[in-house]
Amino acid sequence: METAKLIASKDYTIGRTSERLFGSFVEHMGSVVYNGIYEPDHPAADENGFRTDVLCLVNELALSVVRYPGGNFTSGYDWKDGIGPKEWRPVRTDVAWRQIEPNTFGLNEFMKWIGKVGADPIMTVNLGTKGIEDAKNILEYCNFEGDSYWSELRKAHGVEQPYRIRTWCLGNELDGEWQIARKTPEQYGLLACETAKVMKWLDPGIELVAVGSSTRQMATYPEWDRKVLELTYEHVDYLSLHNYISKREADTATYLAMPMDMEKQIREVIATCDYVQAKKRSGKTMMLSFDEWNVWRAPDVEYTPWQTGSPYDWVRFRMEDALVFGSAMLTILRHADRIGIACQSLLVNTIPMILTEKGGAAWRNPTFYPFAHVSRYGRGQVLRAIVESPKYDTSVYTDVPVVDTTAVYREEQGEATVFAVNRGDEPLLLELSLRDFGTCRPLEHIALKHERLDAVNTSAQPLNVSPARETGTFTSKDDHTAVLLPPYSWNVVRLATGESR
Ligand code: AHR
Repeated sequence: METAKLIASKDYTIGRTSERLFGSFVEHMGSVVYNGIYEPDHPAADENGFRTDVLCLVNELALSVVRYPGGNFTSGYDWKDGIGPKEWRPVRTDVAWRQIEPNTFGLNEFMKWIGKVGADPIMTVNLGTKGIEDAKNILEYCNFEGDSYWSELRKAHGVEQPYRIRTWCLGNELDGEWQIARKTPEQYGLLACETAKVMKWLDPGIELVAVGSSTRQMATYPEWDRKVLELTYEHVDYLSLHNYISKREADTATYLAMPMDMEKQIREVIATCDYVQAKKRSGKTMMLSFDEWNVWRAPDVEYTPWQTGSPYDWVRFRMEDALVFGSAMLTILRHADRIGIACQSLLVNTIPMILTEKGGAAWRNPTFYPFAHVSRYGRGQVLRAIVESPKYDTSVYTDVPVVDTTAVYREEQGEATVFAVNRGDEPLLLELSLRDFGTCRPLEHIALKHERLDAVNTSAQPLNVSPARETGTFTSKDDHTAVLLPPYSWNVVRLATGESR
């Protein structure tokens, strides 16, 4: 049997995970909002129209942040359409997704919903068709303590206390040809800089995210990032990056290796940030906001344009997608020192973690589980582990480690969690050499696996792909614990740490 080894010491850490690394994304897109989180006619809807069956599943994810209201949607959105009495709100066309926006769910509904989720909001302002004044107005409506037109309007809408929303994105993917009112980096950089100044003058407590390149494939990458940072560096706190990993025609071995490109992307964006820091002789280190990341697969349901709540990219993810998704999460964890925000995209119905049927059931996609596990057991000090793994080559990648693994030390719980994806079609023995942790005691081994890599969850079989506790997989060898990872599996290995030597 093939063997891999993870060697880690308590003293060698990458960094503590930011609270904001366990986020997701709710966009007015397809059936994410309408017929997703909000469906007033559904039997499980509460008095606000929120689906309580969906809320129960969302709460299992222990989300720390949720980004809203887009996405591409934001670049044509007027937030004012979504506030005040519902009977006065206009019905609009949304040309980003070619849908009808009834505006029955807006900013205050989102804030009420996120209160039930227990996460913090990340709000995106429209820097496509709107600009500085509109960004200032929404901030004033949400956060201003004193008496002003916009804060009084918020109070008139029944929200006495300011929301104090901390994180704001300065637009979305404005480098993209698909974006409403896309810009050159010079145009965007200047607009973002001036918007940032005004927003921080109004509320110095906020933090701002500048738009980085939409994908690593953009012809303007990474020059867009450099130019934008040169114009905004001292006024923003994060640079965004997005990545949707897609199998398309690739074979399984190649698909499972694709998160290695995400690793490259993160390194390249960090290098670009640090180049600008050096050029500016700045003492400030730019943090990254990975505010859209996911796997992508062609949808199972055809989209009908110019509807409200028509499913867009509604897809039943497969077992193999969950493995790639898990690797992507581990890639983000391994950059806990520089990635301060991460949002899986999107939460419900669009390439989602949670699927729903209109008027019917809600259930978990297989990708739900790696997220829930890392959110629950992955908050702490990410260890700078050395991993020795057998490797494989594909037509695209060379030296792909068969095991993708990362360890997190959860001091307060007295636990170390080892997450691992076995990319191979054979069981693999992972030896854990956790140094300076005292004698570690295995607590549990959870694995997500299935005999078929194309297995999915459906409303009739919602638990077809779901994790289970493994038994008899731990062994002790030369004072080290070893754990047997099933073929093609996502694993959570929890160990109680002993007294330090
Ligand atoms: O699938 C979500 C969309 O993907 C977002 O609106 C956009 O930012 C990205 O291109």
